[in-house]
Amino acid sequence: MRLKQNSYVTESYRKLAVNIEYANIDGNIKTIMITSSMANEGKSTTISNLACVMTELNKRVILMDLDLRKPSVHKYFNLSNNSGLTDLLLNKNNYKNYIHNIQPGLDVMTSGRVPSNTTEIIISKAIKELLKDLSENYDYILLDTPPIMLVSDPVNIAIYADAVILAIAYAETDKETIKKTIDVLKQVNANIIGTVLNKVPQNKKNKYYYYY
Ligand SMILES: Nc1ncnc2c1ncn2[C@@H]1O[C@H](COP(=O)(O)OP(=O)(O)OP(=O)(O)O)[C@@H](O)[C@H]1O
Ligand SMILES: [Mg+2]
Repeated sequence: MRLKQNSYVTESYRKLAVNIEYANIDGNIKTIMITSSMANEGKSTTISNLACVMTELNKRVILMDLDLRKPSVHKYFNLSNNSGLTDLLLNKNNYKNYIHNIQPGLDVMTSGRVPSNTTEIIISKAIKELLKDLSENYDYILLDTPPIMLVSDPVNIAIYADAVILAIAYAETDKETIKKTIDVLKQVNANIIGTVLNKVPQNKKNKYYYYY
């Protein structure tokens, strides 16, 4: 996956990156997760593109695939997923052995083999320790996660992530569902720093693209 340098789409991701920087003026945000209400709302696409453009702001970024339900970050970057996060946690190895460098400033850790006990992994002490280690080497740790309405993993991740971006597919997810999702996230005191509206028809883009 390669973004076109000057396309409208790339500009949208750049705006998102800059807005995150503004939301992080005090420097308290390190771990940022993306989630959505339902499947297929553009989470993986958004977080992968965001990771790429953040390096333009001279940030050191690691993108981790925490969607253990349906990992896909490796596909965006044409990487093998033979080993990754789950293998790292199992083997208690050095995390550097599980990192793919994509471009200067951007590293990716794929999910690794998908286990049946995803919850245990997501809430493990080991993953929190890993994030702590990573935070010493990166400006941002970006996490791709599953949809809130389908599994409990994203809510568990929201408990320790510093910030949450909510992806919403235009005209696909109804308002009630979005409201429910926000309520669930608020219950665990998630810091929702913004929403990204995906799949907006071309002719409505200027009117509807927003971020807060
Ligand atoms: N902004 C966008 N505009 C149009 N199409 C998009 C946009 N973002 C993503 N898509 C398309 O929507 C589909 C789903 O995208 P993606 O895999 O990123 O969603 P997801 O929320 O990660 O899905 P899942 O819940 O399965 O993990 C893909 O075909 C992708 O190309
Ligand atoms: Mg996805």
